[in-house]
Amino acid sequence: MNQKIAVLDFGSQYTQVIARRIRECSVYSEILPFNTKAAELKAQGVCGVILSGGPASVAAKGSPRPDPAIFDMGVPVLGICYGLQLMGAMLGGEVVRGTQREYGHGSLSFKAQGRLLKGLQSPIKVWNSHGDRLEKLPQGFKAIGVTENSPYALIEDAKRSFYGMQFHPEVVHTPQGMEIIKNFLFGICKCKGDWKMSDYVTRAVQNIRDIVGDKKVILGLSGGVDSSVAAALIHKAIGDNLTCVFVDNGLLRKNEREKVETLFKNNFKMRMRTVRAENIFLKKLKGVTDPERKRKIIGKTFIEVFDKAVKSIGDVDFLAQGTLYPDVIESVPIAGNPASLIKSHHNVGGLPKRMKLKLLEPLRELFKDEVRALGKELGLSHEVLWRHPFPGPGLGVRVVGEVKKSYLDVLREADAILMDEMRLSGFYGKVWQAFAVFLPIKTVGVMGDERTYDNAVALRIVESTDAMTADWAHIPHELLGKISNRIINEVKGVNRVCLDISSKPPSTIEWE
Ligand code: XMP
Repeated sequence: MNQKIAVLDFGSQYTQVIARRIRECSVYSEILPFNTKAAELKAQGVCGVILSGGPASVAAKGSPRPDPAIFDMGVPVLGICYGLQLMGAMLGGEVVRGTQREYGHGSLSFKAQGRLLKGLQSPIKVWNSHGDRLEKLPQGFKAIGVTENSPYALIEDAKRSFYGMQFHPEVVHTPQGMEIIKNFLFGICKCKGDWKMSDYVTRAVQNIRDIVGDKKVILGLSGGVDSSVAAALIHKAIGDNLTCVFVDNGLLRKNEREKVETLFKNNFKMRMRTVRAENIFLKKLKGVTDPERKRKIIGKTFIEVFDKAVKSIGDVDFLAQGTLYPDVIESVPIAGNPASLIKSHHNVGGLPKRMKLKLLEPLRELFKDEVRALGKELGLSHEVLWRHPFPGPGLGVRVVGEVKKSYLDVLREADAILMDEMRLSGFYGKVWQAFAVFLPIKTVGVMGDERTYDNAVALRIVESTDAMTADWAHIPHELLGKISNRIINEVKGVNRVCLDISSKPPSTIEWE
């Protein structure tokens, strides 16, 4: 069993980031409820405890407190932000209530030799979150670092191995935060740093077994990275007690259903139910041109179809979802808040509460790159793990205006050629997203000696790091020419190919 750092969660949106930073140091960390008993932590063999930040005020009645016995466990304790104030308040210091909470950069000057600052030179840039302030140090503590706003920005009681910091070492705006975290893990807690993703698989599998027992789980498989990794992990844990439901809404790319079936049904030997619902979706979309209405119809129909499929499966207790940490945190960016840097733009739509199933979300603590590493460990291919994002409404938002089967068929062929050429040239892996868009306008062309009057296709190829902003990718003209020639020659119904050279903002990545 690996060593473990327990992160007690007091509700900060950075709690998961702390856990992630620790995993980056090859040390296992687990987020536990703030009131986990010290005896339980001891039984789990934790070698260090971190008290996370949180929105509450320690001065407020009923604010969350850890088990006081954690301070008698004989393991190092590190309090971050609210965690520092908790230490202050619980160990005999004094905390005064701030009038307003404020985010901001700060500069930490070193006042004394501190174990957390080993190897660092004063001053360092830190990112603060001022709310309440520690006004009087608890006995045994001394101030190690000060900021403009706080004489007790970094405190330590080396004898008892208690540490506290007002700022957040885990966010990118504290550039040397990782050094501080490493000093805590390796210098203070004596961690070995031998944790690997394969250890995560072992723990996660056991965890899923403990939660699920012999009950049945269903999972809506889309073929995307998150649901694929969740499926592979849960299948490893409970085998045939997992049933994957794949909805073919008729808005998928060329051969997508077949690929997903081959991978999960044939290779992984999972129980999988494919619902072929193309007709239902297309019927509901008939005559609808407004993008928002199209999205709503597709979303609602998906839920209806999925719900019906689940009912037909019968006895099911859990609904599994590949929700990741960036999907969990608030989707509204707060100006100046570093958490927004790790936010994904579109959350995975939750399935309706009326399904009355318990949720199983084994990827909830992980970030995208960690999910990919986990997927690799579980045997998923590079192709699956590095797929470009594909929107829930699928090609429904890539056929501009009314969605018709004939348009979708043309788009599928054009898109397949684009994918093919992007992969062959190596550009697929270099861009964020590449896809074709069907334009329902007709223009004149000439093929051989004949006049044509056909539709146009746009190529959308963008670079981005988080989909919040994007720029059109500079693809070599020769490659663009080849893609255009192939589409016009090979796809019946297209006589013109255009390149979308808009950035986001002001455009969006998808056309609808
Ligand atoms: P936009 O068009 O808003 O897209 O610039 C940003 C990113 O989100 C993807 N996208 C979606 N993903 N459900 C999803 O899961 C959706 O409804 C959806 N709409 C857009 C888009 O492909 C791009 O990566």
